[in-house]
Amino acid sequence: MNRLENQCAIVTGAASGLGLGIARRFVEEGARVLITDIDREAGEKAAAELGDAARFLHHDTSSVDDWQRVMATARQDFDRLDALVNNAGVTLMGSVEDVAIDDFDRTLAINTRGTFLGCRFAIGLMKERKGGSIVNIASVSAFKPQPELVAYNTSKAGVALMTQSVALHCARSGYGIRCNAINPGVIHTPMLDKVIAQVEDGEALMDSYKAMHPLGRIGEPGDIASMAAYLCSSEAAFITGAAFTVDGGLGINS
Ligand SMILES: NC(=O)c1ccc[n+]([C@@H]2O[C@H](COP(=O)([O-])OP(=O)(O)OC[C@H]3O[C@@H](n4cnc5c(N)ncnc54)[C@H](O)[C@@H]3O)[C@@H](O)[C@H]2O)c1
Repeated sequence: MNRLENQCAIVTGAASGLGLGIARRFVEEGARVLITDIDREAGEKAAAELGDAARFLHHDTSSVDDWQRVMATARQDFDRLDALVNNAGVTLMGSVEDVAIDDFDRTLAINTRGTFLGCRFAIGLMKERKGGSIVNIASVSAFKPQPELVAYNTSKAGVALMTQSVALHCARSGYGIRCNAINPGVIHTPMLDKVIAQVEDGEALMDSYKAMHPLGRIGEPGDIASMAAYLCSSEAAFITGAAFTVDGGLGINS
């Protein structure tokens, strides 16, 4: 505890699921957190639950204007930024033949462009103090293809390589900014509940997800929050450009 004492952080998509779990852990570890989301009602509720160390901002991560507004608030409230977790994301189902083209574009706009914009704007503020940690939430889907998730696979593979590109740029520029990715396995969040609701036999799908994880369960937001807190702490000072798979062994299950 208190590994993030006095840190100022932004967590996107933090009104629910993984983002809320990460924001909660950051507050427990001593950070002040701007939690951002497009869902205003859930975001305000989450901030109220987290207490004085958290403030909610309405934010569409695919929008440049919104990022400028969020960064202006970070400057005004904190005058610094130590950590950014690019967590906001969507999963829209469809194969290469049947995914709606608008859904493909939207998935990339939020998952990939949103992460890119977050890195770009965070670097601007972090480099002023020569330090910071960016954590991008990618997925096991960044390297494990699923035929019905072509847009999601594409968007997360983009996040994976973008993380390395950003890490190298920041290191070579001498900014003291680290950038890493987390690849969660299947985690129990509202996003998963939406996927389950879209199929005919949701219970069978949930059982198959559990069976796919050699550790015998799906993950919880706290499993990912632990890794995010570690990556933003001084314990991870020598780690950049890395991808940490937190998936109960899913990725090594053939
Ligand atoms: N749940 C899983 O199994 C799983 C596995 C691997 C990776 N992930 C990734 O973890 C992240 C969080 O997923 P989750 O499962 O918590 O999902 P979730 O749907 O529970 O939460 C996502 C949050 O992002 C917000 N959001 C959506 N579009 C946004 C936008 N344009 N701008 C700002 N906020 C936006 C939503 O309102 C929601 O609060 C996503 O990037 C997802 O791809 C999830």
